[in-house]
Amino acid sequence: MFDSRSSVDPAPPATLLHTVAIDLGERSYPILIGHGLLDDPQTWGGLPRASTAVVVSNEIVAPLYAARLRAALAPHYARVLEVVLPDGEATKDWATLNRIFDALLAHGCDRKTVLLALGGGVVGDMTGFAAACYMRGVPFVQVPTTLLAQVDSSVGGKTAINHPLGKNMIGAFYQPVRVVCDLAALATLPEREYCAGLAEVIKYGPIHDTVFLDWIEAHIEALRSREPAIVAHAVRRSCEIKAAVVGQDERESGLRAILNFGHTFGHAIEAGLGYGQWLHGEAVGCGMVMAAVLSQRLGLVSPAYVERLTRLVAAAGLPTRAPVLAPDNAARYLSLMRVDKKAEAGEIRFVVVDERGQAYLRAVPDAVVAEVIEACAAGGGDTDAGTLRV
Ligand code: NAD
Ligand code: GLY
Repeated sequence: MFDSRSSVDPAPPATLLHTVAIDLGERSYPILIGHGLLDDPQTWGGLPRASTAVVVSNEIVAPLYAARLRAALAPHYARVLEVVLPDGEATKDWATLNRIFDALLAHGCDRKTVLLALGGGVVGDMTGFAAACYMRGVPFVQVPTTLLAQVDSSVGGKTAINHPLGKNMIGAFYQPVRVVCDLAALATLPEREYCAGLAEVIKYGPIHDTVFLDWIEAHIEALRSREPAIVAHAVRRSCEIKAAVVGQDERESGLRAILNFGHTFGHAIEAGLGYGQWLHGEAVGCGMVMAAVLSQRLGLVSPAYVERLTRLVAAAGLPTRAPVLAPDNAARYLSLMRVDKKAEAGEIRFVVVDERGQAYLRAVPDAVVAEVIEACAAGGGDTDAGTLRV
């Protein structure tokens, strides 16, 4: 008799390379980093007990990985369901979120149902928010498949959807029970998306770790060519830094804001151009250059430092020249940035850095910010290498 299994190549054994602990008391969890992990939940060190698991993914990622993840989960759950969302930042909204709730309710999912977010930051943020809300909270596992999600968005429990008036404005802090970073999934990630993830890797250097910044600079070509050991180190060190920051300030009462280096400008770029025009990581890359220029204006870093960071962002394949936002550029940036979550009483606060790897939150007069925006739209850190063409 023909055995269909004999024609299928067995998946190579999973390799767990690193485990990074995130210490949040009863909400603590491990970040697991390795190859082939999504095929082997035995390597996850425990799964929530439930009768139903629901893999939430999107129309790009599901055809690549959902069947494999569902097969791997099948021995552990009586039912493994799948919800496939549309793709893209522009779909990170109420209507798409509701599709998750519709599916959970239509299938009679109870309050022990475990959700698995299989995809990039968009799927992860929405699935996490759905998990926080459904029956007032069900467990969820992050299975990030983009570099950006592996080094940042899957870790730390920020979940959200966008509002037309502001990015990530509707959401909750809600921690996953596991983060499973399968580095093998990065093989199918398009170049532009991969480079966007590098922005969030670079971010950890200026805000926290100058040794890591030096290492990224020295290995930027190897990172661009996705050398496995180099990527594994970048994911591990990024997760270690994020875990340390979140472990001290889970709900962003202070320190955690440093993780938003480049994001105040970046979020304005995303909202101002229309979500999805520039990728989140592209906007953050350019935003970091703008924040470095602002840091220089405040006397915290030298022009040489701005030039150095600009070159690194450009070498990562990211834009460094700020887009002009219609109709009135700096005024438009400023109005968009006033709805930033770090703003207080209408006063915008920026993450700025010094050259020792320290980050600070500073309120800055509008006139100074406007000068920085105009300078960056005209060339920012003085390199032409990073003009984005979309
Ligand atoms: P994304 O989720 O849109 O994924 C990028 C693209 O890659 C999508 O088209 C996706 O379908 C596709 N994709 C995903 N994995 C793939 C794979 N392995 N192979 C091929 N294609 C794949 O974008 P992203 O950059 O992962 O995440 C950006 C989002 O993350 C933004 O919404 C941002 O606000 C959010 N974010 C959240 C946090 C947080 O702390 N929660 C932090 C940073 C960013
Ligand atoms: N990405 C910013 C944060 O998690 O706080």
